[in-house]
Amino acid sequence: MLKTILLTLLATGAIAASAATPTQLLETYTAEAARQTPGFQPSAQRGAQFYAQRFALSEKMPNCASCHADNPAQAGKHVVTGKVIKPLAPRGEPARFTDPAKVEKWFGRNCKEVVGRECNAAEKADFIKFLTEGP
Ligand code: HEC
Repeated sequence: MLKTILLTLLATGAIAASAATPTQLLETYTAEAARQTPGFQPSAQRGAQFYAQRFALSEKMPNCASCHADNPAQAGKHVVTGKVIKPLAPRGEPARFTDPAKVEKWFGRNCKEVVGRECNAAEKADFIKFLTEGP
C-alpha cells in the first residue's frame, strides 16, 4: 500500500527522485561500507574524531572543522573566502544531507582538499551518523 502511494507520487513528480533524508543517505553509505567490510556499523564517535582530526596536508584548512565550525550545529566560516557557511548538522540546517548529488560533490571536493584523497563509504557513514546524532 505505502509502496504504491510512493510509486504514484514518484511517477507524478510529487517527490523529486533525487530527494533523500539524512537517514537514507546514512543507510546507503553503511550498506556500501558493509560490502567492503562485512559487519560494518557506523559510529558517531569515529565521525566526531574524523571531523576534528587535523590532517597534515593543508595548513590553512587542516580539518573539516576549520570551515564548518568546531560545533557543526553552528554556522561556520570559509577559511579562504570568509563567507558564512550554514551549519553542517541537520539540527542546525534542515536542508543538510537531503540532496545526494550535492553531498557527493562536497565530500569529493572537501575530502580531496583536507584529507588528500576521496573519503570512503565508511568515513561518510560515520560522518553523517555524527552529524545527525552527535558523538
Ligand atoms: C575550505 C572550507 C571547507 C572545508 C575545510 C571543508 N568544507 Fe565542507 N563545505 C564547504 C562549503 C563552501 C560547502 C558548500 C556550501 C554549503 O553547503 O553551505 C561545504 C559543504 C559540505 C557538504 C555538503 C552537505 C550538504 O548536504 O549540504 C559536505 C558533506 C561537506 N562539506 C563535508 C566536508 C568534510 C567531510 C570536510 C573535511 C574532510 C569538509 N567538508 C571540510 C567548505 C569546506
